[in-house]
Amino acid sequence: MKKIIVTGGAGFIGSNFVRYVVKNYPEVHVTVLDKLTYAGNRANLAELPENRVKLIVGDITDTNLVDSLVKNTDAVVHYAAESHNDNSLKDPLPFVQTNLIGTYTLIEACRKYDVRFHHVSTDEVYGDLPLREDLPGEGVGEKFTDKTPYNPSSPYSSTKAGSDLLVRAWVRSFGLRATISNCSNNYGPYQHIEKFIPRQITNILSDIRPKLYGEGKNVRDWIHTNDHSSGVWRILTKGRIGETYLIGANGEKDNKTVVELILELMGEDKSGYDHVDDRAGHDLRYAIDSTKLREELGWIPQFTDFREGLQATIKWYQENRAWWEADKTLVEEIYVKSGQ
Ligand code: NAD
Ligand code: DAU
Repeated sequence: MKKIIVTGGAGFIGSNFVRYVVKNYPEVHVTVLDKLTYAGNRANLAELPENRVKLIVGDITDTNLVDSLVKNTDAVVHYAAESHNDNSLKDPLPFVQTNLIGTYTLIEACRKYDVRFHHVSTDEVYGDLPLREDLPGEGVGEKFTDKTPYNPSSPYSSTKAGSDLLVRAWVRSFGLRATISNCSNNYGPYQHIEKFIPRQITNILSDIRPKLYGEGKNVRDWIHTNDHSSGVWRILTKGRIGETYLIGANGEKDNKTVVELILELMGEDKSGYDHVDDRAGHDLRYAIDSTKLREELGWIPQFTDFREGLQATIKWYQENRAWWEADKTLVEEIYVKSGQ
């Protein structure tokens, strides 16, 4: 695999994958196809060598552009998406356009030129699980596997579920050489400040109190984005065609615990946050069983110390104020309008 296209490669997770490939696989050239929406940022790719990474600013729903790029590549790794649940509750249409029509456009081109396709998806396609405290006995509880039935809750997760199903159908009906990964919540540097962890860090850095939805009991299964990237590369290069692999690093934590840890690591009083309106349809708990990826493909996450990863992430936002500061006022204005 010498030439790959990474869609959404100027976003949070896509740009981490591009850096991972550039660092570890010198023989691979990356073309990033990214529309540079509010969530995409050229700066996420700064300092990468021009002979290794080329940025094409364009839309994955643009059939002619996608066709011209896909016919000259060995593989497409598809990250581009509208990715934020809260935005999807306010305006679902861009989610339908990018996540469904965009994925359709890419897999049609890959089918035409018999190009390997990897689809980056989310654990949210499975809906949510009960909180451990609501389960009988010791409450070990079930986790998501690739056999869990789809049951998405939000416009975002339903469009991601729909895009997964398109890929599955293209594999079966047209022999598309594709794999799918469903990963849990990522954290790390370069994450847009609308998302939970960077919102709270940049709130504290802006003298705004952190905001917790509802009681903060909802659980997310945190994984460092570096581990997501190594998982996707492993699946792209070693995964069985037609298979779905779940990526997770046993990082379950409730939101209250996370916000308190951020406050503590930033030298603030642990109680210094506000409870705000809950998200409509808010999923309770996500938890990934990644046994298939670990046992079949030998993947092992490396960045599993959450406290250490969070400390490094806080340091990154402290040292890179120019990266996020210009967006802060607008992001908070949008939240305040919805009581959050
Ligand atoms: P992000 O919002 O930070 O980045 C998305 C990128 O896609 C941006 O660079 C944006 O400009 C680009 N994009 C959006 N619409 C486009 C279009 N029509 N054409 C071309 N480019 C377009 O998102 P992220 O958090 O990095 O997520 C990346 C992918 O990973 C998504 O598919 C998401 O569903 C999936 N995922 C995210 C998480 C997470 O925790 N953030 C977890 C699992 C899976
Ligand atoms: O599980 C994977 C998914 O994780 C990805 O598919 C999505 O693209 C990604 O955005 C993320 O979705 P979440 O909705 O879980 O992430 P978010 O950062 O928006 O919220 C995490 C949790 O924190 C969620 O329970 C809502 C809560 N929250 C969020 C914000 C922004 C708060 O309590 N306060 C906040 O200010």
